Amino acid sequence: MKCLVTGSAGFIGSHLCERLVGDGHTVVGIDAFIPYYPRTVKEANLHFLHGQHGYTHHTLDLRTDPLEAALDGVEVVFHLAAMPGLAKSWTDFDLYQSCNLTATQRLLEAVRKTPSVQRFVYASTSSVYGRFSTGDETMPTRPISPYGVTKLAAENLCRSYEELGVAVIVLRYFSVYGPRQRPDMGYHRFIAALLGKQPITVYGDGQQVRGNTYIDDCVAATMAALQAPLGENYNVGGGESASVWDILGKLEAIVGRRAILSKEAARAGDQRSTYADTAKLRRHLGWEAQTSLDDGLARQVAWHRQHVWRSSAVARFARGQNVVNY
Ligand SMILES: NC(=O)c1ccc[n+]([C@@H]2O[C@H](COP(=O)([O-])OP(=O)(O)OC[C@H]3O[C@@H](n4cnc5c(N)ncnc54)[C@H](O)[C@@H]3O)[C@@H](O)[C@H]2O)c1
Repeated sequence: MKCLVTGSAGFIGSHLCERLVGDGHTVVGIDAFIPYYPRTVKEANLHFLHGQHGYTHHTLDLRTDPLEAALDGVEVVFHLAAMPGLAKSWTDFDLYQSCNLTATQRLLEAVRKTPSVQRFVYASTSSVYGRFSTGDETMPTRPISPYGVTKLAAENLCRSYEELGVAVIVLRYFSVYGPRQRPDMGYHRFIAALLGKQPITVYGDGQQVRGNTYIDDCVAATMAALQAPLGENYNVGGGESASVWDILGKLEAIVGRRAILSKEAARAGDQRSTYADTAKLRRHLGWEAQTSLDDGLARQVAWHRQHVWRSSAVARFARGQNVVNY
């Protein structure tokens, strides 16, 4: 099958491309290397795919570049490209609305004119539910961050393109972690700080609870969407939830070091609790999470130990080098 993966140089997209190529599919990747974390890190995410028979990369910006050539002969689109993360979505809304909404609209327009495309899988988020995101797909959608608002709007845009014949499946991912996790995400920051003997900032009371999804389980659920009934939406979450304190305790045990903690006020838009009821995904597609939280965290720590250079690249980046302003 010929698949297009947008956001292919990102955390989840690069893992998905590897799995698709490994399963014998032909993959076209699109990524613009949006530099809110270092381009070098995203290029390294593509390391395994470079030169792989079956993978072709297009450095294209979905907001502005022509997309028709990349879509030629494509049968399935996995749309993962987005500006993720909530903190920056308060301060750079144009970037979020353009990468999450305009980009999605341009892609959908190109897809509806490409008759070979049989399904369009959209990567959404638990953030569409809002402060309390514990339950199944019937939970009300009340996002509390601009990020969540743009992702929900993009979901609705996909739904509106169903009217024009685009076959859509929506996946709502819940806090994905594991090797190559984005450097702005909590577990990445915690592990890098523990290994580097740096302080860890905990926002709010640390009692925020997350349903956690190991990257391989997230990719397996995304692959399962190839068989999903058209028009459905699914929560994608691992089977275990944990508070910030639970996670820090586990990471201290794995790394063998106590965390140096600093506390800051809760961040606006932070979800209080998330946990995915995935019964529908299991019922329809037989998917179940396979990786325990302890195993997944241990694998992420092992990966960090092997890729220390990334932490220094991110730290240099955070000090202002290579920053591109929009
Ligand atoms: N990581 C999570 O825990 C999580 C949770 C819920 C939902 N999601 C969703 O999953 C998807 C992937 O997330 P991720 O964590 O891998 O993020 P990521 O930032 O690592 O990957 C996203 C990629 O999209 C690319 N991109 C953004 N705008 C683009 C544009 N206009 N044109 C071309 N490329 C563009 C970026 O350069 C980046 O490489 C996103 O849609 C995100 O909203 C992620």
